[in-house]
Amino acid sequence: MEGFRVTGGEKLQGQVRLEGAKNAVLPILAAALLADGDTVIRDCPDIRDVHAMMGILETLGCACRMEAGNMRISSAELKGWELPDDLSKQIRSSIFLLGPILGKLRRATVPYPGGCEIGLRPIDLHLKGLRALGVRIAEDGGMIHCDGRNMHAGDVYFDYPSVGATENVMMAAALLPGITTIHNAAREPEIEDLQHFLNAMGGHVSGAGSQIIEVEGEEKLRGIAYTPIPDRIVGGTLLCAGAVTGGEVELINARPRDLMPITDKLKEMGCKVHEAEDRVRLKAPARLRAFSQLQTQPHPGFPTDMQAQMLAISCLAEGTCVIVENVFENRLSHVADLCRMGADIRVSGRTAVVRGVEKLHGLPLCARDLRGGAALVLAALAAQGESRIERADLIDRGYAHLESVLSGLGAQMERVEVTESR
Ligand code: EPZ
Repeated sequence: MEGFRVTGGEKLQGQVRLEGAKNAVLPILAAALLADGDTVIRDCPDIRDVHAMMGILETLGCACRMEAGNMRISSAELKGWELPDDLSKQIRSSIFLLGPILGKLRRATVPYPGGCEIGLRPIDLHLKGLRALGVRIAEDGGMIHCDGRNMHAGDVYFDYPSVGATENVMMAAALLPGITTIHNAAREPEIEDLQHFLNAMGGHVSGAGSQIIEVEGEEKLRGIAYTPIPDRIVGGTLLCAGAVTGGEVELINARPRDLMPITDKLKEMGCKVHEAEDRVRLKAPARLRAFSQLQTQPHPGFPTDMQAQMLAISCLAEGTCVIVENVFENRLSHVADLCRMGADIRVSGRTAVVRGVEKLHGLPLCARDLRGGAALVLAALAAQGESRIERADLIDRGYAHLESVLSGLGAQMERVEVTESR
């Protein structure tokens, strides 16, 4: 089992260029199924979730090839409409292959995606959206059988602005004659990026970034070369690494607007943030100040994918932070290991109260989920002594070669074999 060995105490300094966003690339890889012809996705991150998605696309008959950071997908041979159970369980985001497979083949069978470390992850809104487009859905024995022979454009209303459900309906409607309107749609930047991708393929999608998205179906969509937006969560995580070590970190190929909820909090903590068109530079104070409170919300609220990282750096801030995780029901698993390192955190339900301490001690730690694992890395960077973090594989799901990126900024961090302790 691979892990990371981190020796804390180094100030991180330097520049990092951001690659394509995991949560933009995954739906775009799914949407590539809609194209007649090859698609090239530039700046594709070399992460486990992308590898898993490639495996699923290949079982459907697509050819996928990574060439120097660019992913080429050929969906000409798309013949399968059944997702493999084993691979689909590897990543939750396989569920948003439903939309494009239905859009293209009018039928699909997918395994019910299991929950994961951060919550039950139901798909009721995905299924509600597809049923509103006339898809007949039968669930049996953990499989979801979809019959899209009578699919039609229409109105979809989401009780909650689900990112994946919004993306599924956008992709299912892209080849459906007529206008489909999504009400209470998710507004994340990755939704806007999917709209841009579909329109570049010849689609007619509008409204992404607002609560109402309109999709006018097309006869066909063409394969294109596309560069997805940079990863605001990787970027936010790296800014937190600079902040918690008293360093200075600059992101290249960043979008300041996407990072605003994060840089706003980091400025409240005493960091100096300089923004230019495609870069963000942060200079940390000697010691961070506590922000008063942080509530995770659907975009444009504070992103749940940055909650664990902000909680980790607040452990050493002067003062008390209150953090509420409103989006997922089980996304505070990183608290236990942070407390073992010496943090003072009280949890009640989805609320964590963090009283800043002077120091944390390096320890053997274990990542429980992707962003919680990144949070432990941040704490280890600022802790006294050595930490070993198990389950690098969970962190590799969303961060490409994190040990190389952070070492490049001056961290003492390497990938090691770790015997599983618990
Ligand atoms: C996407 O997941 C992201 N993943 C997640 O990033 C991110 O945390 C999440 O959006 C919220 O921003 C990808 O884009 C691949 P949701 P998704 O549907 O689409 C409930 C990371 O770390 N819900 O907006 O699954 C759900 O239980 C990952 O990169 C339903 O109740 O998120 C949750 O409480 C983690 N029914 C809330 O909505 C549904 O049918 C938000 O889920 C769907 C969701």
